[in-house]
Amino acid sequence: MTGVAPHAAWLPDDAFAAIGSRRVVVAGDGALTATIAEEVAAATARFGGAFSRLDVGDGVSDAELVLTLAPSLVEPVETIEVSTRDASAGSGAAAEVSGIDESFRFMREAGAVVVQAGTDAGLLHGLFHVVRLGETAFDGPDTDETHAPATDLRMLDHWDNVDVHPTMGQVERGYSGGSIFYDNGFVRADLSRVERYARLLAAVGINRVAINNVNVHEHEARLLTDDLGDVVRVAAVFRRWGIRVHLSVSFASPVTLGGLDTSDPLDQDVAHWWVRAAARVWDAIPDFGGFVVKADSEGQPGPFAYGRTHADGANMLAAAVEPYEGLVHWRAFVYDHRQDWRDRSTDRARAAYDHFHPLDGAFSENVVVQVKYGPLDFQVREPLSPVLAAMPHTRVALELQVTQEYTGQQQHAVYLGQQWSQLLGFRFWEPDGVGGGSPTVADLATGRGKAANDPGTGRWRKPAGGFAAVSNVGDDEFWTGHPFAQANLYAYGRLCWDPTLDPGALLDEWVGLTFPGAPDAVGEAVRAVLDRSWETYEQYTAPLGVGFMVRPGHHYGPDVDGYEYTPWGTYHFADRDGIGVDRTVRTGTGYAGQYPSPWSATYESLSTCPDELLLFFHHVPYTHVLHSGKSVIQHIYDTHFEGVSRVEEMIGEWSKVSTLVDPRVSERISERFAEQLRSATEWRDQVNTYFLRKSGIPDERGRTIY
Ligand code: GCU
Repeated sequence: MTGVAPHAAWLPDDAFAAIGSRRVVVAGDGALTATIAEEVAAATARFGGAFSRLDVGDGVSDAELVLTLAPSLVEPVETIEVSTRDASAGSGAAAEVSGIDESFRFMREAGAVVVQAGTDAGLLHGLFHVVRLGETAFDGPDTDETHAPATDLRMLDHWDNVDVHPTMGQVERGYSGGSIFYDNGFVRADLSRVERYARLLAAVGINRVAINNVNVHEHEARLLTDDLGDVVRVAAVFRRWGIRVHLSVSFASPVTLGGLDTSDPLDQDVAHWWVRAAARVWDAIPDFGGFVVKADSEGQPGPFAYGRTHADGANMLAAAVEPYEGLVHWRAFVYDHRQDWRDRSTDRARAAYDHFHPLDGAFSENVVVQVKYGPLDFQVREPLSPVLAAMPHTRVALELQVTQEYTGQQQHAVYLGQQWSQLLGFRFWEPDGVGGGSPTVADLATGRGKAANDPGTGRWRKPAGGFAAVSNVGDDEFWTGHPFAQANLYAYGRLCWDPTLDPGALLDEWVGLTFPGAPDAVGEAVRAVLDRSWETYEQYTAPLGVGFMVRPGHHYGPDVDGYEYTPWGTYHFADRDGIGVDRTVRTGTGYAGQYPSPWSATYESLSTCPDELLLFFHHVPYTHVLHSGKSVIQHIYDTHFEGVSRVEEMIGEWSKVSTLVDPRVSERISERFAEQLRSATEWRDQVNTYFLRKSGIPDERGRTIY
């Protein structure tokens, strides 16, 4: 740890002022009710209010805020009312709720507020709802609302290693210092930082974390066995905040840990080894969540070695965890990372669908197939993975990347809320991707909709797979390297709870909590800086959906040909005449055909393919004219110049208010902006110069290109 107290992020003491200055009653028992009582007691002591702890049903006549358990509110899931959502969006908003009921009721009458929940988990979410509302919780007109999460699977995956990995470090793709869990080979003795983290996560609605890297190295594999005691300690910390712990496990564990000579999923001894391993884990951690598995992917072992399918592999593990209602999150990120760049017929983008679509319906009930949002790898712009639409009989989770591996590595201010919101709202079966009655991607992940092409029951597969994302925190003073990257973690949690929330409004919420009492100008500046920052990053990096062009290995900064002749399958095929990947059915790799109608046709045709994904789907001459009216080459030049100008504007906006916030925050933001501007300029100049040299076509506006 750095020795400096970690920044309070969105839970500074002042975020509790509205609660702390009132007469508050907490009623009921249960571990999380005790957590709530501690929070309220601390807040009222600080802000001069009054706190009493009562039994459910005790008279509470003069309280201004009552947080009470009401076991009678635990209704059969089908009848839970979700009044905050548009019920027409799906078939029975709560039908996918499984596990613990986390809903709560918020009632306000003449300025007094009562929060009721059937479980202490629901009550904890209710407490943080009031924290988020602040004074407005008590101000508005009388109301009676029920709030429930869109899905009960709201997960963060940590790519933290126990040992410092020789190339990937303590946290793979970590841009925020060391790990909050591990330090150079050990689980930390002092888990107080984990406790603060759990509190932050609970406040945005996250309820599951996987605590080790999906690439499970030798030492990390032992968390499942010899080092289970350490997991028990970590799980105890998260439990106080209603969060369940999961582990990434190695498919080869029966061999590497158990001394068997095979990990064949159809081998009885292998299956028994996993049954015993699961029994030990749940014996030690009764509320353990389950296993995350990266198999047959980038060198991780998997069922292919034995000629078995991914359903064989996942189902064998699922059987081992089933007695405990455990889950297997099985990642769909399976592709050939030893491709020959000369071979134009192999397309990495096709791989997940080719492997998983044929297995739809073959996975056990407690397997969640975890699908990255795009077919490549968390690029700033990719089409939605067609796997999400192609497995109506499988629980699918949407996987996002909060850690900014390909979006500026927390050196660049890039707010991803808008990207996620667009992805979540996309409709595979509607011509324009929005509007219409068929399900959104969020519906598919939360079990709220039925696929338009599903001839089945009229409902999408239940229960749902929910959401997972790679976390962006570390032991950095600000948790996330860039203080603005906290907003991404915040928005991810909130969108998991309700995927229809407006990403701009979430920024306002984050600012309000993080900088309580700051002048309005701070919020306005944050909006001006971050609202379009995703688009800005896209402008100065790889153009028109083509992706990558990053430096190999660490993936930071420009290198247009960095991956062009490598085995990783992420090419742009630029030559003197044109650029882009032909993924059409007619002349290319056929990837466009993996989409349902109408998107298969939309992407297939040059005339209908959206500009921002043109080079993902088509190889075109530099002179090809976009829907915007510009040629591809002029678009490249213009967006790269504009992207850098926008970064300058962002810096200008922030400088107007930088003295109004904590100087530590301000200093870090200034440092990061200096690097963002340097890096964006480097991107602009390399990309523009590369394409000027390749195409020989000058910039219409005669700007400096090298
Ligand atoms: C990316 C990333 C890797 C990671 C992998 C995954 O390829 O660069 O570090 O292991 O995704 O999601 O498994």
